[in-house]
Amino acid sequence: MEPTSNLAADQVLVKQYLDAVEQSAPLDEHAEMEYRNKIKGLLRENNAVLVAHYYTDGVLQDLAEETGGFVGDSLEMARFGSACEADTLVVAGVRFMGETAKILCPEKTVLMPTLDATCSLDIACPIEEFSEFCDQHPDHTVVVYANTSAAVKARADWVVTSSIGLEVVEHLADQGKKILWAPDQHLGAYIQEKSGAQMLLWDAACIVHEEFRFRGLLDMRKLYPDAAILAHPESPAQVLELADFVGSTTQMIKAAQRLDNDLFIVATDKGIFHRMRQVAPEKSFIAAPTVGSGATCRSCAHCPWMAMNTLARLYETLANPTEEVQVDRQLGEQAMVPLQRMLDFASQAQLSVKGKA
Ligand code: 13P
Ligand code: SF4
Repeated sequence: MEPTSNLAADQVLVKQYLDAVEQSAPLDEHAEMEYRNKIKGLLRENNAVLVAHYYTDGVLQDLAEETGGFVGDSLEMARFGSACEADTLVVAGVRFMGETAKILCPEKTVLMPTLDATCSLDIACPIEEFSEFCDQHPDHTVVVYANTSAAVKARADWVVTSSIGLEVVEHLADQGKKILWAPDQHLGAYIQEKSGAQMLLWDAACIVHEEFRFRGLLDMRKLYPDAAILAHPESPAQVLELADFVGSTTQMIKAAQRLDNDLFIVATDKGIFHRMRQVAPEKSFIAAPTVGSGATCRSCAHCPWMAMNTLARLYETLANPTEEVQVDRQLGEQAMVPLQRMLDFASQAQLSVKGKA
C-alpha cells in the first residue's frame, strides 16, 4: 500500500485549523517590558529554563538567552533539554518539540506557551495509517522525522532531525538496510538522493517550505547574482537544487556566518533572520520567494504555529500552568528508545556542518 496521506486533504485540515486560531494583538514597548520582567521572575522562582526555536519571535529568543536558557534547532533543543538540570522546561516552539523534551525527561515538568502549536507534518501522519504502512513493510527500518507525535516516534526504529537525517540514513544504508521514511517527502527525497539509500517515502510536506518557488528563486538569483542561497531541506527538490547550502536551521545560520557572501537568499521561516542578523550583522538577508501573499499563501515563510508563541502566552503558562505537556508513560518509554538512539548517534558522530557549501 502507498501511504494514504494526501497533501490536498492535509491543506484543508490545516486551513480549518488555522481559521479557528485566535490572532493576538501586538504589544507596546511598556507591556512588552512588563511581561519580560514578570517572566524572568517566574522562571527563577520555578527553577525553569526557556528553550526556544529559531522560528519563534526574536523577543522570546533573546529572553531565552538572557535567562540562561537556550535557542537552537530541534536536535539541539532536545539535547539541551535532556542535559539541563532545571525542574521545569518551557519549550517555545511547536508541540513535537515539547513532547520530545517530555519523552527525554519524564521527571521534568514541560510547559509550552500553547499546546495548540502543532505542525503540518505531525497532522499529516496519523498513527493508525502510519502503523498500517509500517506493518506492510516489515523488512524496512522505520526512520521518522522528529516533527511527529509521540505515538509515531514510538513505532519507529530511529528518530532524526534535519541536521542528522542524512548521516543516520547513510549509516543504515551502509548496513544494507531499506528505509521506510516519514513524514516529510521533500526531506526524505533529499536524503534519498544524497545517500542513494533504498527508501519508501510518506506523502506529507511542511506548509511553510512547500511554498518556496523555483521560478521566483531563479529570477531572484538573476537579480542578485552574488547572493548565496541557503535552504532548509523541507523545501521542494527544485529549490534545493538551486541552493548553495542545504541544512538544518543551525547549519544555515553557521553557513551565513562562514560563507564570504554579503547577501543571502534564505528559504526557510523568516524567524531565523533574527539570529542570522545577530551573528552576521554586516551581511544582508532576504526571504526566498513564496507563492505570494494571496489566498493560497497559508504561511508566507512564517510558520503559523511557531507564531502562536507569544510573550503573553509564555507569561500565562508560567503563572498558571495549564499548558503542560503530557505523554503517556508507556508510550514515552517506547518513544525514548529511537530518540535516545539519535542523541547517542549525534554525540558519536560529533556533528559538524554538512551540506553543499
Ligand atoms: P530544524 O531541526 O532545522 O530546526 O527544523 C525544525 C523545523 O520544524 C523546520 O521546519
Ligand atoms: Fe512544522 Fe513547517 Fe512549522 Fe517546521 S515550519 S514546525 S515543519 S509546519
